[in-house]
Amino acid sequence: MKVIKFEFFFCNLFMCHQMAMKKEAQEKQKAEQRRRAQAVSDIPIIWILGGPGCGKGTQCAKIVEKYGFTHLSSGDLLRDEVASGSEKGRELQKIMTSGGLVPNAEVLGLLNAAVIRAKGTSKGFLIDGYPREKSQGIAFEAQIAPADLALYFDCSEETMLKRILARAAAATVKRADDNEATIRSRLHTFKCNTSDILELYNEKTLTINAERDVEIIFMEVVEAIDCMLQKKERAAKVC
Ligand code: AP5
Repeated sequence: MKVIKFEFFFCNLFMCHQMAMKKEAQEKQKAEQRRRAQAVSDIPIIWILGGPGCGKGTQCAKIVEKYGFTHLSSGDLLRDEVASGSEKGRELQKIMTSGGLVPNAEVLGLLNAAVIRAKGTSKGFLIDGYPREKSQGIAFEAQIAPADLALYFDCSEETMLKRILARAAAATVKRADDNEATIRSRLHTFKCNTSDILELYNEKTLTINAERDVEIIFMEVVEAIDCMLQKKERAAKVC
């Protein structure tokens, strides 16, 4: 009887020790996540939103030129994976040519890795084409860092379709998803998800009329970014 009690006591002691170790490891992991998020939140983060062909990439190139920010396009990161010829790349290609959304675990994983690679030297991040669903925004802010600003380029479907078809006609290497059927499907996917994102992030989103000339749009972009940078600088001084 005594032997059984003794064994029971040690068994319990062992389990308690294991649980304490697990808890300690979880706490360490959480502290590391907080440390990383803090390190990234010191750097401006801007989400670039808008439908296919609204001009996200065009404006990002100009922002990079002026501010030297790091441009992370979710579409480009996915296309790099496709170009690698991996099995995963083939799966992604199927989804992208159907005009649907790739699972967020894939997209956020690629963005997170790119942010970690660049954060030591980056002056700011432009997250182009993300979030495309409310849940993507929530996951990004929980796992990477809160966005400081979202720029939404508002454009009619007709204009977006025309712009992509013109881009495809001029391209030497045409994107697999730049054909009319896929563009229409991309437009549909965009339409289904965008109002939820705009509603959730209303306070940090600036809607910009993207039907206008590239330079006029960019003037508005610059105003918004300068304003955000000033606010961030003031907040850092207060802290
Ligand atoms: P992605 O590569 O992000 O494509 P997109 O959102 O469809 O946008 P585009 O790159 O086609 O257009 P853009 O807005 O950058 O316009 P651009 O500046 O080139 O995504 C592709 C796919 O990847 C998605 O469909 C999805 O499957 C997947 N994916 C990506 N992100 C994801 C995510 N977060 N979650 C899940 N899946 C994801 O301009 C277009 C043309 O118009 C150019 O020729 C340009 O010169 C011209 N132009 C631009 N501005 C103007 C202007 N003001 N006036 C006249 N012409 C202009």
